[in-house]
Amino acid sequence: MAQYTTRISFVLILVIINETSFARICNSSGEHWQSRIGLLVSPIISRSKIREIEIYWNNVNIEPGDKISLFEENSSGDQREIYTVVPNSFSGVEKTGVLAEFIPSSNLSFAKRCTKYSVRWWADKEIKDTKCLGTQPTWMKERKDILGPLKMKQIFLPGTHDSASYNENDDRASIVSDFAVTQDLDILGQLIHGVRYLDIRVGRYRETNEIWWTNHGPLYRSVSLKTVIDQVKKFLDNTEEIVIIDIREFPIGFNNMSDHHALATYLEDEFRDYYLPNNYGWGTTLNEIWSSGKRLIIGYENMRIVNSHSSMWPYVLHQWGNVQSTEQLFRYLDKIETSDGDSATRPRSAMAEMTADLTYILFNGLTSLRDMAHKVNLNVTNWYSTVWQYSANIVAVDFLRSTDIVEIAIESNENRHLHCRY
Ligand SMILES: *[C@@H]1O[C@H](CO)[C@@H](O)[C@H](O)[C@H]1NC(C)=O
Ligand SMILES: *[C@@H]1O[C@H](CO)[C@@H](O)[C@H](O)[C@H]1NC(C)=O
Ligand SMILES: *[C@@H]1O[C@H](CO)[C@@H](O)[C@H](O)[C@H]1NC(C)=O
Ligand SMILES: *[C@@H]1O[C@H](CO)[C@@H](O)[C@H](O)[C@H]1NC(C)=O
Ligand SMILES: *[C@@H]1O[C@H](CO)[C@@H](O)[C@H](O)[C@H]1NC(C)=O
Repeated sequence: MAQYTTRISFVLILVIINETSFARICNSSGEHWQSRIGLLVSPIISRSKIREIEIYWNNVNIEPGDKISLFEENSSGDQREIYTVVPNSFSGVEKTGVLAEFIPSSNLSFAKRCTKYSVRWWADKEIKDTKCLGTQPTWMKERKDILGPLKMKQIFLPGTHDSASYNENDDRASIVSDFAVTQDLDILGQLIHGVRYLDIRVGRYRETNEIWWTNHGPLYRSVSLKTVIDQVKKFLDNTEEIVIIDIREFPIGFNNMSDHHALATYLEDEFRDYYLPNNYGWGTTLNEIWSSGKRLIIGYENMRIVNSHSSMWPYVLHQWGNVQSTEQLFRYLDKIETSDGDSATRPRSAMAEMTADLTYILFNGLTSLRDMAHKVNLNVTNWYSTVWQYSANIVAVDFLRSTDIVEIAIESNENRHLHCRY
């Protein structure tokens, strides 16, 4: 009998230990979401500012004496506090006036790095949390054990909207580019920062030598498709990550199926050593993808092409709210993230941005997609790190680093693995 009692209490202790260790990591039940702090890079450009660093905090239980600070590390590794805020509420954001330097993607490493900037939530004697502004070039492979058995549909994947419409420096050309540029990192930079879903809109220009270009709508032509292809290959050559490139919209120069066949053939030639054939299908697990030795999935938004080219996969479902306010965006995303109607095996992408509508733009004094992204990106960050962290699949954002979506996706995938939800 004594032995029996001992065994029971032993089991009880195990359960208690498990619950507390999980509770510390997840604690996502009810209103008590995980607290988080982080760094954002503002998309707003003014005469004196570009890439201003912002610090944010959410659900942080502020105690007397707590502060949140931006730290800068010098070349001998010493940390210096350069900006501090004493929060007066549990969520907030603060512009720091500190400008992140521009690092061309060709100078970024394929190993995970922190920049010299970090944010710290601390009291005099205690560091409560800290995060650095950095890259995530290897996050999938690092988590092969938890991601390997899953399908793309079951993973929270950071993506970008209209990925190739980028402008890394402030060479603003026109009102068209103000409402066309969606990113401030090139494709390689996005991938090194953690993006694994690329939304590429291709136009065909017969009068140019290049022929294939990337576009945002028919009016805005960005970089050549070859530029995008070369950067994707460079990333795949230097990592073991898995990437989806989704070829879509064809806003100009596509008159008939022969244009599509020509593009599909061009992509096949360029990506010959990289793409996974579509007979694997979206039901494939990441482990199967890794075992195949091919880590590129090419989606194509035309089913006749998918049916006639084994290189082209059924395209990702884009979920667009076409909304003009943060509240409407919340309602739309909440609807798609909480409906369980979507049983398809192909992935879906929540398009987490507002749509430019002339009336809305004029009445709200917005002057570019940069303003619109700045208005919603912190909200998107906070929503996806709390209420929708278990439902999210692909989330495609504008101006990647003004969200914290990469860090959130990584942590959510870990939380899912730990079954934090219940
Ligand atoms: C975890 O959640 C419980 C209630 O669900 C709450 O009382 C507790 O303060 C939370 N802990 C942390 C560390 O947030
Ligand atoms: C880094 O900061 C420390 C402490 O302020 C200082 O002693 C050191 O000289 C600095 N190193 C460089 C290379 O500036
Ligand atoms: C990029 O790398 C090159 C060559 O190593 C170097 O000369 C240059 O200063 C670097 N640029 C930046 C902005 O880091
Ligand atoms: C497709 O359109 C192009 C350009 O408009 C034209 O040159 C070509 O003949 C068309 N091909 C077919 C099969 O209709
Ligand atoms: C968006 O974020 C702002 C600033 O944190 C907040 O005041 C606002 O309530 C949020 N909007 C929604 C719809 O969640």
